[in-house]
Amino acid sequence: MKIWVPMDSAAKALGSEDVVAAIRAEAARRGVDVEIARNGSRGMIWLEPLVEVETEAGRIGYGPMNAGDVAAIFDGSPSLGLVEELDWMKRQTRLTFQRCGVTDPLSLAQYEAHGGLAGLRRAIGMSQDAIIDEVKLSGLRGRGGAGFPTGIKWDTVRLAHADRKYIVCNADEGDSGTFADRMIMEGDPFCLIEGMVIAGLGCGAVQGYVYTRSEYPDAVAVMRRAIVLAHEAGVIGPDVMGSGKPFELEVRVGAGAYVCGEETSLLNSLEGKRGVVRAKPPLPALEGAFGKPTVVNNVISLATVPVIFEKGASYYADFGLGRSKGTIPLQIAGNVARGGLFETAFGMPLGEIVTDLAGGTATGRPVKAVQVGGPLGAYLGQEQFDTPFGYEEFGGQDALIGHAGLVVFDDSADMLGMARFAMEFCAVESCGKCTPCRIGAVRGVETLDRIAAGDGAAVELLSDLCETMKDGSLCALGGFTPYPVMSALQLFPEEFAGVKEAAE
Ligand SMILES: Cc1cc2nc3c(=O)[nH]c(=O)nc-3n(C[C@H](O)[C@H](O)[C@H](O)COP(=O)(O)O)c2cc1C
Ligand code: SF4
Repeated sequence: MKIWVPMDSAAKALGSEDVVAAIRAEAARRGVDVEIARNGSRGMIWLEPLVEVETEAGRIGYGPMNAGDVAAIFDGSPSLGLVEELDWMKRQTRLTFQRCGVTDPLSLAQYEAHGGLAGLRRAIGMSQDAIIDEVKLSGLRGRGGAGFPTGIKWDTVRLAHADRKYIVCNADEGDSGTFADRMIMEGDPFCLIEGMVIAGLGCGAVQGYVYTRSEYPDAVAVMRRAIVLAHEAGVIGPDVMGSGKPFELEVRVGAGAYVCGEETSLLNSLEGKRGVVRAKPPLPALEGAFGKPTVVNNVISLATVPVIFEKGASYYADFGLGRSKGTIPLQIAGNVARGGLFETAFGMPLGEIVTDLAGGTATGRPVKAVQVGGPLGAYLGQEQFDTPFGYEEFGGQDALIGHAGLVVFDDSADMLGMARFAMEFCAVESCGKCTPCRIGAVRGVETLDRIAAGDGAAVELLSDLCETMKDGSLCALGGFTPYPVMSALQLFPEEFAGVKEAAE
Protein backbone atom coordinates (compact mmCIF):
# COMPACT_ATOMS: atom_id res chain seq x y z
CA MET A 1 0.00 0.00 0.00
CA LYS A 2 1.53 3.32 -1.05
CA ILE A 3 0.38 6.46 0.76
CA TRP A 4 1.43 10.01 -0.08
CA VAL A 5 1.57 12.63 2.67
CA PRO A 6 2.63 16.19 1.80
CA MET A 7 5.79 17.62 3.35
CA ASP A 8 4.77 21.17 2.44
CA SER A 9 4.86 23.50 5.44
CA ALA A 10 1.13 24.30 5.15
CA ALA A 11 0.39 20.58 5.55
CA LYS A 12 2.96 20.33 8.34
CA ALA A 13 1.39 23.27 10.16
CA LEU A 14 -1.91 21.41 9.97
CA GLY A 15 -0.49 18.19 11.43
CA SER A 16 0.92 16.10 8.55
CA GLU A 17 3.83 14.75 10.64
CA ASP A 18 1.41 13.46 13.28
CA VAL A 19 -0.59 11.87 10.48
CA VAL A 20 2.53 10.10 9.19
CA ALA A 21 3.25 8.73 12.67
CA ALA A 22 -0.38 7.64 13.08
CA ILE A 23 -0.40 5.87 9.70
CA ARG A 24 2.77 3.98 10.61
CA ALA A 25 1.32 2.95 13.98
CA GLU A 26 -2.00 1.87 12.45
CA ALA A 27 -0.25 -0.10 9.70
CA ALA A 28 1.89 -1.88 12.29
CA ARG A 29 -1.16 -2.65 14.41
CA ARG A 30 -2.95 -4.18 11.41
CA GLY A 31 0.14 -5.88 10.03
CA VAL A 32 -0.21 -3.98 6.73
CA ASP A 33 2.86 -3.23 4.65
CA VAL A 34 2.81 0.51 3.98
CA GLU A 35 5.15 2.70 1.96
CA ILE A 36 4.88 6.36 2.89
CA ALA A 37 5.92 8.71 0.10
CA ARG A 38 6.25 12.47 0.45
CA ASN A 39 4.95 15.04 -2.00
CA GLY A 40 4.42 18.78 -2.11
CA SER A 41 1.02 20.37 -1.68
CA ARG A 42 -1.63 20.22 -4.39
CA GLY A 43 -2.63 23.72 -3.27
CA MET A 44 -6.03 22.82 -1.80
CA ILE A 45 -5.14 24.22 1.58
CA TRP A 46 -8.60 23.66 3.05
CA LEU A 47 -8.05 19.91 2.55
CA GLU A 48 -4.59 19.76 4.16
CA PRO A 49 -3.20 17.47 5.30
CA LEU A 50 -4.42 15.79 2.11
CA VAL A 51 -3.41 12.15 2.22
CA GLU A 52 -3.40 10.25 -1.08
CA VAL A 53 -3.61 6.47 -1.50
CA GLU A 54 -2.40 4.87 -4.71
CA THR A 55 -4.99 2.67 -6.41
CA GLU A 56 -5.11 1.10 -9.85
CA ALA A 57 -7.38 3.93 -11.03
CA GLY A 58 -5.10 6.65 -9.67
CA ARG A 59 -4.49 8.44 -6.38
CA ILE A 60 -7.54 8.88 -4.14
CA GLY A 61 -7.63 11.59 -1.47
CA TYR A 62 -8.53 11.78 2.20
CA GLY A 63 -8.59 15.20 3.77
CA PRO A 64 -8.37 17.17 5.86
CA MET A 65 -6.85 14.22 7.71
CA ASN A 66 -6.34 14.07 11.47
CA ALA A 67 -4.01 11.68 13.23
CA GLY A 68 -7.09 10.25 14.97
CA ASP A 69 -8.84 9.46 11.68
CA VAL A 70 -6.21 7.41 9.84
CA ALA A 71 -8.18 4.17 10.29
CA ALA A 72 -10.45 5.46 7.48
CA ILE A 73 -7.60 4.97 5.01
CA PHE A 74 -7.23 1.30 5.95
CA ASP A 75 -10.97 0.60 6.25
CA GLY A 76 -11.56 1.82 2.70
CA SER A 77 -14.00 4.44 4.00
CA PRO A 78 -15.43 6.86 1.42
CA SER A 79 -12.71 9.14 0.11
CA LEU A 80 -12.74 12.44 -1.78
CA GLY A 81 -12.30 10.37 -4.94
CA LEU A 82 -9.52 10.66 -7.49
CA VAL A 83 -7.50 13.75 -6.62
CA GLU A 84 -6.91 14.66 -10.28
CA GLU A 85 -10.68 14.58 -10.84
CA LEU A 86 -11.54 17.05 -8.07
CA ASP A 87 -13.15 20.18 -9.50
CA TRP A 88 -10.34 22.43 -8.17
CA MET A 89 -7.70 20.32 -9.92
CA LYS A 90 -9.60 19.63 -13.15
CA ARG A 91 -10.31 23.28 -13.85
CA GLN A 92 -6.67 24.34 -13.67
CA THR A 93 -4.06 24.72 -16.36
CA ARG A 94 -1.05 23.50 -14.45
CA LEU A 95 2.09 24.41 -16.35
CA THR A 96 4.44 25.90 -13.75
CA PHE A 97 2.90 23.71 -11.04
CA GLN A 98 2.54 20.58 -13.19
CA ARG A 99 4.52 18.41 -10.76
CA CYS A 100 3.76 20.14 -7.46
CA GLY A 101 1.92 17.68 -5.22
CA VAL A 102 2.45 14.89 -7.74
CA THR A 103 6.10 13.94 -7.32
CA ASP A 104 8.52 13.53 -4.42
CA PRO A 105 10.16 16.99 -4.33
CA LEU A 106 13.59 15.47 -3.72
CA SER A 107 13.49 12.72 -6.33
CA LEU A 108 15.36 13.80 -9.44
CA ALA A 109 14.26 10.55 -11.11
CA GLN A 110 10.59 11.43 -10.57
CA TYR A 111 11.29 14.98 -11.71
CA GLU A 112 12.67 13.68 -15.01
CA ALA A 113 9.92 11.11 -15.40
CA HIS A 114 7.38 13.96 -15.26
CA GLY A 115 8.93 16.22 -17.91
CA GLY A 116 11.76 17.71 -15.83
CA LEU A 117 15.10 18.56 -17.49
CA ALA A 118 13.59 18.33 -21.00
CA GLY A 119 13.65 22.13 -21.22
CA LEU A 120 17.26 22.36 -20.06
CA ARG A 121 18.34 19.67 -22.55
CA ARG A 122 16.77 21.73 -25.33
CA ALA A 123 18.31 24.99 -24.08
CA ILE A 124 21.79 23.42 -23.99
CA GLY A 125 21.57 22.93 -27.75
CA MET A 126 20.60 26.55 -28.36
CA SER A 127 22.66 29.74 -28.73
CA GLN A 128 22.32 32.51 -26.13
CA ASP A 129 20.37 34.54 -28.70
CA ALA A 130 17.96 31.71 -29.35
CA ILE A 131 17.39 31.11 -25.62
CA ILE A 132 16.52 34.75 -25.06
CA ASP A 133 14.32 34.87 -28.18
CA GLU A 134 12.39 31.88 -26.85
CA VAL A 135 11.72 33.66 -23.55
CA LYS A 136 10.72 36.86 -25.39
CA LEU A 137 8.39 34.90 -27.67
CA SER A 138 6.69 33.24 -24.69
CA GLY A 139 5.57 36.66 -23.50
CA LEU A 140 6.68 35.77 -19.94
CA ARG A 141 6.54 38.78 -17.63
CA GLY A 142 7.90 39.06 -14.12
CA ARG A 143 5.63 37.39 -11.60
CA GLY A 144 7.17 39.25 -8.66
CA GLY A 145 4.97 42.27 -9.12
CA ALA A 146 6.10 44.73 -11.78
CA GLY A 147 5.34 42.48 -14.76
CA PHE A 148 8.51 43.45 -16.65
CA PRO A 149 9.19 41.27 -19.74
CA THR A 150 11.64 38.58 -18.63
CA GLY A 151 13.30 38.16 -22.05
CA ILE A 152 14.20 41.84 -22.24
CA LYS A 153 15.73 41.77 -18.76
CA TRP A 154 17.81 38.71 -19.69
CA ASP A 155 18.93 40.37 -22.93
CA THR A 156 20.21 43.41 -21.05
CA VAL A 157 22.33 41.16 -18.85
CA ARG A 158 23.50 39.07 -21.82
CA LEU A 159 24.65 42.19 -23.69
CA ALA A 160 26.43 43.76 -20.71
CA HIS A 161 30.22 43.42 -20.78
CA ALA A 162 31.57 41.95 -17.55
CA ASP A 163 33.84 39.17 -16.34
CA ARG A 164 31.09 37.79 -14.12
CA LYS A 165 27.28 37.86 -14.16
CA TYR A 166 24.71 36.57 -11.71
CA ILE A 167 21.23 35.07 -11.66
CA VAL A 168 19.43 36.02 -8.45
CA CYS A 169 16.12 34.43 -7.59
CA ASN A 170 13.89 36.66 -5.52
CA ALA A 171 12.28 34.22 -3.10
CA ASP A 172 11.55 36.74 -0.37
CA GLU A 173 7.78 36.41 -0.90
CA GLY A 174 6.71 39.10 1.53
CA ASP A 175 3.26 39.85 0.10
CA SER A 176 0.28 39.10 2.30
CA GLY A 177 -1.65 36.00 1.28
CA THR A 178 1.03 34.66 -1.05
CA PHE A 179 2.65 31.24 -0.96
CA ALA A 180 3.33 30.23 -4.58
CA ASP A 181 7.11 30.70 -4.26
CA ARG A 182 7.22 28.66 -1.07
CA MET A 183 5.10 25.91 -2.62
CA ILE A 184 7.46 25.58 -5.60
CA MET A 185 10.58 25.61 -3.40
CA GLU A 186 9.12 22.94 -1.10
CA GLY A 187 7.15 21.01 -3.71
CA ASP A 188 9.24 21.12 -6.92
CA PRO A 189 12.66 22.63 -6.17
CA PHE A 190 14.36 21.12 -9.25
CA CYS A 191 12.02 23.17 -11.42
CA LEU A 192 13.41 26.41 -9.97
CA ILE A 193 16.96 25.07 -10.30
CA GLU A 194 16.34 24.16 -13.94
CA GLY A 195 14.90 27.61 -14.68
CA MET A 196 17.92 29.29 -13.10
CA VAL A 197 20.37 27.16 -15.06
CA ILE A 198 18.59 28.06 -18.33
CA ALA A 199 18.76 31.74 -17.30
CA GLY A 200 22.49 31.29 -16.64
CA LEU A 201 23.05 29.73 -20.06
CA GLY A 202 21.04 32.47 -21.78
CA CYS A 203 22.79 35.36 -20.05
CA GLY A 204 26.27 33.91 -19.67
CA ALA A 205 26.07 33.80 -15.87
CA VAL A 206 27.86 31.06 -13.95
CA GLN A 207 26.60 31.71 -10.43
CA GLY A 208 23.08 31.84 -9.06
CA TYR A 209 21.64 32.77 -5.67
CA VAL A 210 18.25 31.97 -4.23
CA TYR A 211 17.50 34.74 -1.74
CA THR A 212 14.78 33.83 0.72
CA ARG A 213 13.74 34.65 4.28
CA SER A 214 14.41 32.98 7.59
CA GLU A 215 10.65 32.50 8.07
CA TYR A 216 10.83 29.82 5.35
CA PRO A 217 12.96 27.15 7.08
CA ASP A 218 11.37 24.23 5.21
CA ALA A 219 11.85 25.90 1.84
CA VAL A 220 15.48 26.63 2.74
CA ALA A 221 16.11 23.01 3.77
CA VAL A 222 14.44 21.50 0.69
CA MET A 223 16.17 23.92 -1.71
CA ARG A 224 19.56 23.25 -0.14
CA ARG A 225 19.08 19.49 -0.34
CA ALA A 226 17.87 19.73 -3.95
CA ILE A 227 20.96 21.78 -4.85
CA VAL A 228 23.21 19.06 -3.39
CA LEU A 229 21.32 16.37 -5.34
CA ALA A 230 21.41 18.41 -8.56
CA HIS A 231 25.14 18.89 -8.08
CA GLU A 232 25.73 15.18 -7.55
CA ALA A 233 23.76 14.42 -10.71
CA GLY A 234 25.68 16.99 -12.78
CA VAL A 235 22.63 19.17 -13.43
CA ILE A 236 24.61 22.03 -11.90
CA GLY A 237 28.32 22.27 -11.22
CA PRO A 238 31.41 22.67 -13.41
CA ASP A 239 29.85 20.97 -16.45
CA VAL A 240 26.07 21.39 -16.64
CA MET A 241 24.74 18.13 -18.10
CA GLY A 242 27.80 17.64 -20.29
CA SER A 243 27.46 21.06 -21.92
CA GLY A 244 30.93 22.13 -20.87
CA LYS A 245 29.37 25.17 -19.16
CA PRO A 246 29.46 25.74 -15.41
CA PHE A 247 26.66 26.91 -13.14
CA GLU A 248 26.79 27.00 -9.35
CA LEU A 249 23.91 27.73 -7.01
CA GLU A 250 23.59 28.82 -3.41
CA VAL A 251 20.74 29.68 -1.02
CA ARG A 252 21.10 32.89 1.00
CA VAL A 253 18.75 33.62 3.87
CA GLY A 254 17.68 37.13 4.91
CA ALA A 255 16.26 38.13 8.23
CA GLY A 256 12.80 38.81 6.81
CA ALA A 257 12.08 42.47 6.09
CA TYR A 258 9.38 43.29 3.54
CA VAL A 259 11.63 45.81 1.79
CA CYS A 260 14.28 43.11 1.24
CA GLY A 261 11.98 41.79 -1.49
CA GLU A 262 12.63 44.99 -3.45
CA GLU A 263 15.37 43.99 -5.84
CA THR A 264 18.07 46.52 -4.95
CA SER A 265 17.48 46.19 -1.22
CA LEU A 266 17.63 42.43 -1.73
CA LEU A 267 21.01 42.76 -3.44
CA ASN A 268 22.36 44.77 -0.52
CA SER A 269 21.12 42.14 1.91
CA LEU A 270 22.54 39.36 -0.29
CA GLU A 271 25.92 41.07 -0.13
CA GLY A 272 25.70 41.13 3.66
CA LYS A 273 24.79 44.81 3.91
CA ARG A 274 21.76 46.49 5.45
CA GLY A 275 18.62 46.07 3.32
CA VAL A 276 18.36 49.64 2.05
CA VAL A 277 17.02 50.46 -1.40
CA ARG A 278 19.58 51.59 -4.00
CA ALA A 279 18.78 54.43 -6.37
CA LYS A 280 18.25 53.40 -10.00
CA PRO A 281 20.05 53.84 -12.37
CA PRO A 282 22.18 51.84 -12.47
CA LEU A 283 19.78 48.99 -13.16
CA PRO A 284 20.65 45.69 -11.46
CA ALA A 285 20.82 44.21 -14.97
CA LEU A 286 23.94 46.37 -15.49
CA GLU A 287 25.27 46.78 -11.95
CA GLY A 288 23.61 44.32 -9.61
CA ALA A 289 25.07 41.79 -7.18
CA PHE A 290 28.64 42.72 -6.23
CA GLY A 291 28.46 45.45 -8.89
CA LYS A 292 28.08 42.93 -11.74
CA PRO A 293 25.26 42.52 -14.31
CA THR A 294 22.50 40.56 -12.58
CA VAL A 295 19.16 39.08 -13.46
CA VAL A 296 16.78 39.44 -10.52
CA ASN A 297 13.69 37.36 -11.13
CA ASN A 298 10.90 36.05 -8.98
CA VAL A 299 10.65 32.30 -8.20
CA ILE A 300 7.59 31.84 -10.40
CA SER A 301 9.15 33.71 -13.34
CA LEU A 302 12.17 31.38 -13.20
CA ALA A 303 10.18 28.22 -12.43
CA THR A 304 8.03 28.88 -15.51
CA VAL A 305 11.07 28.84 -17.82
CA PRO A 306 11.45 25.00 -17.92
CA VAL A 307 7.93 24.43 -19.23
CA ILE A 308 8.44 27.15 -21.86
CA PHE A 309 11.49 25.28 -23.15
CA GLU A 310 9.86 21.88 -22.71
CA LYS A 311 6.69 22.70 -24.63
CA GLY A 312 7.79 25.66 -26.75
CA ALA A 313 7.27 29.41 -26.42
CA SER A 314 4.21 29.55 -28.65
CA TYR A 315 2.52 26.76 -26.68
CA TYR A 316 2.90 28.90 -23.56
CA ALA A 317 1.96 32.17 -25.24
CA ASP A 318 -1.28 30.66 -26.56
CA PHE A 319 -2.69 30.81 -23.04
CA GLY A 320 -3.75 34.10 -21.53
CA LEU A 321 -5.23 37.39 -22.49
CA GLY A 322 -3.75 40.33 -24.40
CA ARG A 323 -0.27 41.12 -23.12
CA SER A 324 -0.75 38.84 -20.12
CA LYS A 325 0.48 35.62 -21.69
CA GLY A 326 0.48 32.15 -20.20
CA THR A 327 -0.74 31.14 -16.79
CA ILE A 328 -0.74 32.67 -13.35
CA PRO A 329 -0.79 30.83 -10.01
CA LEU A 330 -3.53 32.61 -8.09
CA GLN A 331 -3.12 32.47 -4.34
CA ILE A 332 -6.49 32.80 -2.67
CA ALA A 333 -6.50 33.68 1.02
CA GLY A 334 -8.20 35.66 3.75
CA ASN A 335 -11.85 35.16 4.61
CA VAL A 336 -12.71 32.45 2.05
CA ALA A 337 -14.46 29.10 2.19
CA ARG A 338 -11.73 27.49 0.05
CA GLY A 339 -8.25 28.99 0.05
CA GLY A 340 -5.29 27.79 -1.92
CA LEU A 341 -3.31 27.89 -5.10
CA PHE A 342 -5.05 27.75 -8.47
CA GLU A 343 -3.02 28.01 -11.67
CA THR A 344 -4.99 29.22 -14.64
CA ALA A 345 -4.59 31.14 -17.88
CA PHE A 346 -4.77 34.91 -17.41
CA GLY A 347 -8.24 36.31 -17.99
CA MET A 348 -10.46 34.75 -15.33
CA PRO A 349 -12.78 37.45 -13.94
CA LEU A 350 -12.11 38.45 -10.34
CA GLY A 351 -15.70 37.61 -9.33
CA GLU A 352 -15.38 34.05 -10.63
CA ILE A 353 -12.23 33.57 -8.56
CA VAL A 354 -13.78 34.89 -5.37
CA THR A 355 -17.33 33.57 -5.50
CA ASP A 356 -17.01 30.44 -7.59
CA LEU A 357 -13.51 29.07 -6.90
CA ALA A 358 -13.07 30.30 -3.35
CA GLY A 359 -16.76 29.74 -2.57
CA GLY A 360 -17.23 33.21 -1.09
CA THR A 361 -16.36 33.99 2.50
CA ALA A 362 -15.72 31.47 5.27
CA THR A 363 -18.08 33.42 7.49
CA GLY A 364 -20.88 33.18 4.93
CA ARG A 365 -21.28 36.96 4.95
CA PRO A 366 -21.16 39.02 1.73
CA VAL A 367 -17.76 39.85 0.25
CA LYS A 368 -16.94 43.48 0.86
CA ALA A 369 -13.54 43.88 -0.76
CA VAL A 370 -10.61 41.93 -2.13
CA GLN A 371 -7.07 43.18 -1.78
CA VAL A 372 -5.06 41.98 -4.76
CA GLY A 373 -1.28 42.17 -5.02
CA GLY A 374 -0.13 42.23 -1.41
CA PRO A 375 -0.06 45.02 1.15
CA LEU A 376 0.57 47.63 -1.56
CA GLY A 377 -2.31 46.40 -3.71
CA ALA A 378 -5.62 48.16 -4.17
CA TYR A 379 -8.92 47.00 -2.69
CA LEU A 380 -11.48 46.00 -5.29
CA GLY A 381 -15.19 45.91 -4.59
CA GLN A 382 -18.01 43.79 -6.04
CA GLU A 383 -18.60 46.40 -8.77
CA GLN A 384 -15.17 45.48 -10.14
CA PHE A 385 -15.77 41.73 -10.14
CA ASP A 386 -15.99 41.66 -13.96
CA THR A 387 -12.32 42.68 -14.22
CA PRO A 388 -10.37 39.91 -15.97
CA PHE A 389 -7.19 38.85 -14.15
CA GLY A 390 -4.48 40.52 -16.23
CA TYR A 391 -1.76 43.19 -15.85
CA GLU A 392 -3.39 45.84 -18.07
CA GLU A 393 -6.94 45.02 -17.01
CA PHE A 394 -6.09 45.58 -13.33
CA GLY A 395 -4.06 48.67 -14.25
CA GLY A 396 -7.22 50.05 -15.85
CA GLN A 397 -8.89 49.80 -12.43
CA ASP A 398 -6.04 51.66 -10.71
CA ALA A 399 -5.06 48.31 -9.24
CA LEU A 400 -2.28 45.77 -9.70
CA ILE A 401 -2.03 42.01 -9.74
CA GLY A 402 1.37 41.99 -8.02
CA HIS A 403 2.36 38.45 -7.12
CA ALA A 404 -1.26 37.33 -7.65
CA GLY A 405 -2.21 37.06 -4.00
CA LEU A 406 -5.87 37.73 -3.22
CA VAL A 407 -7.03 38.47 0.32
CA VAL A 408 -10.80 38.49 0.74
CA PHE A 409 -12.73 40.49 3.37
CA ASP A 410 -16.37 40.19 4.36
CA ASP A 411 -18.76 43.07 5.11
CA SER A 412 -17.54 43.40 8.70
CA ALA A 413 -14.14 44.75 7.53
CA ASP A 414 -13.26 48.20 8.80
CA MET A 415 -11.88 49.92 5.70
CA LEU A 416 -10.65 53.04 7.47
CA GLY A 417 -8.77 50.68 9.77
CA MET A 418 -7.34 48.86 6.73
CA ALA A 419 -6.21 52.16 5.19
CA ARG A 420 -4.54 53.05 8.46
CA PHE A 421 -2.91 49.62 8.53
CA ALA A 422 -1.44 50.24 5.05
CA MET A 423 0.17 53.48 6.20
CA GLU A 424 1.37 51.90 9.44
CA PHE A 425 2.84 48.96 7.52
CA CYS A 426 4.70 51.37 5.27
CA ALA A 427 6.01 53.31 8.27
CA VAL A 428 7.24 50.13 9.96
CA GLU A 429 8.77 48.57 6.85
CA SER A 430 10.22 51.73 5.28
CA CYS A 431 13.96 51.48 4.67
CA GLY A 432 14.18 55.17 5.52
CA LYS A 433 16.09 56.26 2.45
CA CYS A 434 13.56 58.77 1.07
CA THR A 435 11.39 61.35 2.79
CA PRO A 436 7.95 60.81 1.17
CA CYS A 437 7.90 57.26 2.51
CA ARG A 438 9.83 57.62 5.79
CA ILE A 439 7.97 60.71 6.97
CA GLY A 440 4.89 60.50 4.76
CA ALA A 441 3.74 57.16 6.11
CA VAL A 442 3.92 58.41 9.71
CA ARG A 443 1.96 61.54 8.76
CA GLY A 444 -0.47 59.22 6.91
CA VAL A 445 -1.26 57.31 10.10
CA GLU A 446 -1.78 60.57 11.98
CA THR A 447 -4.02 61.96 9.23
CA LEU A 448 -6.17 58.83 9.19
CA ASP A 449 -6.50 59.09 12.97
CA ARG A 450 -7.74 62.67 12.50
CA ILE A 451 -10.29 61.48 9.92
CA ALA A 452 -11.43 58.76 12.31
CA ALA A 453 -11.94 61.45 14.91
CA GLY A 454 -14.23 63.30 12.48
CA ASP A 455 -11.88 65.86 10.94
CA GLY A 456 -13.29 66.24 7.40
CA ALA A 457 -10.57 68.61 6.19
CA ALA A 458 -7.99 65.90 6.76
CA VAL A 459 -9.39 63.87 3.84
CA GLU A 460 -8.01 66.36 1.33
CA LEU A 461 -4.72 66.31 3.18
CA LEU A 462 -4.67 62.51 2.92
CA SER A 463 -5.23 62.68 -0.86
CA ASP A 464 -2.42 65.25 -1.22
CA LEU A 465 -0.10 63.14 0.89
CA CYS A 466 -0.89 60.07 -1.23
CA GLU A 467 -0.06 62.02 -4.40
CA THR A 468 3.27 63.08 -2.91
CA MET A 469 4.10 59.53 -1.85
CA LYS A 470 3.14 58.19 -5.28
CA ASP A 471 5.22 60.72 -7.22
CA GLY A 472 8.13 61.26 -4.87
CA SER A 473 9.04 57.87 -3.41
CA LEU A 474 12.19 56.14 -4.53
CA CYS A 475 10.64 52.67 -4.66
CA ALA A 476 7.23 51.06 -4.79
CA LEU A 477 6.94 50.63 -1.00
CA GLY A 478 6.24 54.32 -0.53
CA GLY A 479 5.00 54.73 -4.09
CA PHE A 480 2.27 52.09 -3.95
CA THR A 481 1.06 52.42 -0.34
CA PRO A 482 -1.45 55.02 -1.63
CA TYR A 483 -3.21 52.28 -3.65
CA PRO A 484 -4.84 50.48 -0.70
CA VAL A 485 -5.42 53.80 1.07
CA MET A 486 -7.07 55.64 -1.82
CA SER A 487 -9.04 52.62 -3.06
CA ALA A 488 -10.51 52.11 0.42
CA LEU A 489 -11.46 55.79 0.50
CA GLN A 490 -12.94 55.75 -2.99
CA LEU A 491 -14.88 52.49 -2.54
CA PHE A 492 -16.22 53.19 0.95
CA PRO A 493 -16.23 56.99 1.49
CA GLU A 494 -19.01 56.66 4.05
CA GLU A 495 -16.62 54.83 6.39
CA PHE A 496 -14.27 57.75 6.52
CA ALA A 497 -16.10 59.67 9.21
CA GLY A 498 -14.42 62.89 8.24
CA VAL A 499 -15.84 62.61 4.71
CA LYS A 500 -19.33 62.29 6.14
CA GLU A 501 -18.84 65.31 8.37
CA ALA A 502 -17.41 67.38 5.52
CA ALA A 503 -20.43 66.59 3.34
CA GLU A 504 -22.87 67.63 6.05
C1 LIG B 1 8.70 46.81 -1.25
C2 LIG B 1 8.84 45.80 -2.33
C3 LIG B 1 8.81 44.44 -2.03
C4 LIG B 1 8.97 43.49 -3.03
N1 LIG B 1 8.92 42.17 -2.68
C5 LIG B 1 9.11 41.23 -3.65
C6 LIG B 1 9.12 39.85 -3.30
O1 LIG B 1 8.95 39.47 -2.14
N2 LIG B 1 9.30 38.96 -4.30
C7 LIG B 1 9.50 39.34 -5.62
O2 LIG B 1 9.70 38.50 -6.48
N3 LIG B 1 9.49 40.64 -5.95
C8 LIG B 1 9.30 41.59 -5.01
N4 LIG B 1 9.33 42.91 -5.36
C9 LIG B 1 9.60 43.25 -6.79
C10 LIG B 1 11.11 43.24 -7.07
O3 LIG B 1 11.63 44.52 -6.77
C11 LIG B 1 11.41 42.95 -8.54
O4 LIG B 1 10.57 43.70 -9.36
C12 LIG B 1 11.25 41.48 -8.90
O5 LIG B 1 12.03 40.67 -8.09
C13 LIG B 1 11.67 41.25 -10.33
O6 LIG B 1 11.44 39.91 -10.70
P1 LIG B 1 10.37 39.56 -11.83
O7 LIG B 1 10.70 40.42 -13.02
O8 LIG B 1 10.58 38.12 -12.11
O9 LIG B 1 9.04 39.86 -11.26
C14 LIG B 1 9.15 43.90 -4.38
C15 LIG B 1 9.16 45.26 -4.68
C16 LIG B 1 9.01 46.20 -3.68
C17 LIG B 1 9.03 47.64 -4.03
S1 SF4 C 1 10.00 54.40 -0.74
FE1 SF4 C 1 10.38 53.79 1.40
S2 SF4 C 1 11.30 51.77 1.23
FE2 SF4 C 1 11.45 52.73 -0.80
S3 SF4 C 1 13.42 53.78 -0.82
FE3 SF4 C 1 11.99 55.27 -0.07
S4 SF4 C 1 12.10 55.04 2.17
FE4 SF4 C 1 13.00 53.20 1.30
